[in-house]
Amino acid sequence: MTILRSAMAALSTSIIATGIGCLVSLPARSQAGSAQSQLVDAAGNMHIPDNYRTNYEYLGSWSVAGDERGAKEMHTVYASPGAAEAYRATGKFPDGSVLVKEVQSTATAVMTTGTVSHVDHLKGWFMMVKDSKNSHPDNKLWGNGWGWSWFDADNKVKTTSKDFRSDCLGCHIPAKATDWIYVSGYPGLKK
Ligand code: HEC
Repeated sequence: MTILRSAMAALSTSIIATGIGCLVSLPARSQAGSAQSQLVDAAGNMHIPDNYRTNYEYLGSWSVAGDERGAKEMHTVYASPGAAEAYRATGKFPDGSVLVKEVQSTATAVMTTGTVSHVDHLKGWFMMVKDSKNSHPDNKLWGNGWGWSWFDADNKVKTTSKDFRSDCLGCHIPAKATDWIYVSGYPGLKK
């Protein structure tokens, strides 16, 4: 029995280890060749992945309270496949992990459940790509271990943000200890 149990433990450890190895190499592999290859070009320009609502994993949502009743904005965050699992295993996002935050305006109405806000109109997306090697030192959209960009809803391909230090970083300082990510909003990152 003891032998069997330790064999099982060894087996499951190796499955986990293989799983992680595979997950970590996934983003790199998908950058080389597939439709995702355009996600980040050689100069570090990124764009919003197609079909992220179906191909990515849902991480969590934020509801930004309005001055009136209900929410004024809702934010929905998605992660590239495997990123959350690797995070649960290692406490870090592996290089190549992509986070996409959808920003939507809302409409609020009285429904049978109460006063309820729902997403109404897409304003655009924030996107971050993990890059612990800081591979694009000359690109102002990259630094502190991530690529950072904002995209207006009418253009998934070209960012309108210019410099992550002025456009993003100040607001992410409260999340510095968790690698700039507001992890408390994402139940799927917890073990
Ligand atoms: C006004 C402050 C503010 C600015 C400016 C800002 N962020 Fe954020 N960001 C936040 C907050 C707060 C959250 C989590 C709560 C929310 O969405 O309201 C967040 C969440 C995110 C998320 C989801 C992952 C996470 O950290 O939880 C991404 C991706 C993101 N921001 C990217 C960016 C990028 C890229 C920029 C610059 C182009 C940027 N943000 C600028 C405040 C800001």
